[in-house]
Amino acid sequence: MNYRHAFHAGNFADLVKHAALLELLARLQTSNEPLQVFDTHAGRGLYDLTGDEAQRSGEAEAGVGALMAAGDLPDALASLRAAVSQLNGGGEASLYPGSPLLVAGRLRRGDGYLGCELRPQEHSALSEALAGWPAARTACADGYVEVPKRPVGGGRTLVLIDPPFEKSDDYDRCVGALDAITRKTPAAVVMIWMPLKDLETFDAFLRDAEDAYGRPLLVAEARMRPLTDPMKMNGCALVLANAPDGFDAVLKDICGWTVSRLGDGGQARVWTAA
Ligand SMILES: C[S@@+](CC[C@H](N)C(=O)[O-])C[C@H]1O[C@@H](n2cnc3c(N)ncnc32)[C@H](O)[C@@H]1O
Repeated sequence: MNYRHAFHAGNFADLVKHAALLELLARLQTSNEPLQVFDTHAGRGLYDLTGDEAQRSGEAEAGVGALMAAGDLPDALASLRAAVSQLNGGGEASLYPGSPLLVAGRLRRGDGYLGCELRPQEHSALSEALAGWPAARTACADGYVEVPKRPVGGGRTLVLIDPPFEKSDDYDRCVGALDAITRKTPAAVVMIWMPLKDLETFDAFLRDAEDAYGRPLLVAEARMRPLTDPMKMNGCALVLANAPDGFDAVLKDICGWTVSRLGDGGQARVWTAA
């Protein structure tokens, strides 16, 4: 396991995923029902953009740097910008919140969060980042195994599946987790993040996910450039089960802005796979 999210924190793909995550939370918290959030691959929770990894990759500057400076931001990305600004005390974005911190900051009384992180070093940083949020718990565990076996009581459930995709079985394990989670909790909202490299891999994943889930999936693609080089991450996609009504319009705004402002001749697409 070599993947270190610190190289990529705050890049275009994090903006797409985290803006969508905050918008999902807002919709799932409109009722008084408690919300349980599960993060199968949590990362370290908080990223220092002045650190060596972020500086070497330059990905945050091209991503969250542009987000903070944008004069034409759609509403769907405004909550993310506000969260980054708040974390940095209104000053320059030198810190970036991962999914655990974004969720923890929005938990109401009765809500809960569980973030799984397999790497002990990342897990220990995660525990530290969440120290001030008692309703946000962590496990140093394999999220594909741990999350599907967690009991889910009443209320609403949101699951983020956000693997590094450094192993070829990540696609199959995402399908397995989607299947297991939605069998146990049919109304769970599940959002899977994935890189877009070539269309064959993505199409094969979608076919397997459709077969396993058996109901329509909402798909949002931010293709940052034409998908001509399968060795590159040419964009990213979100695949959602049980997306709230009207969420396609939110995803269109998020992916549309990201592709048009940060991309290079790419395309945003939001559609239903059935
Ligand atoms: C893309 S990062 C997660 C980023 C995080 N969800 C966010 O949005 O801030 C993926 C993380 O998963 C961890 N990881 C890899 N395999 C795992 C597994 N099977 N279970 C839990 N964590 C895993 C990696 O160490 C890495 O920190």
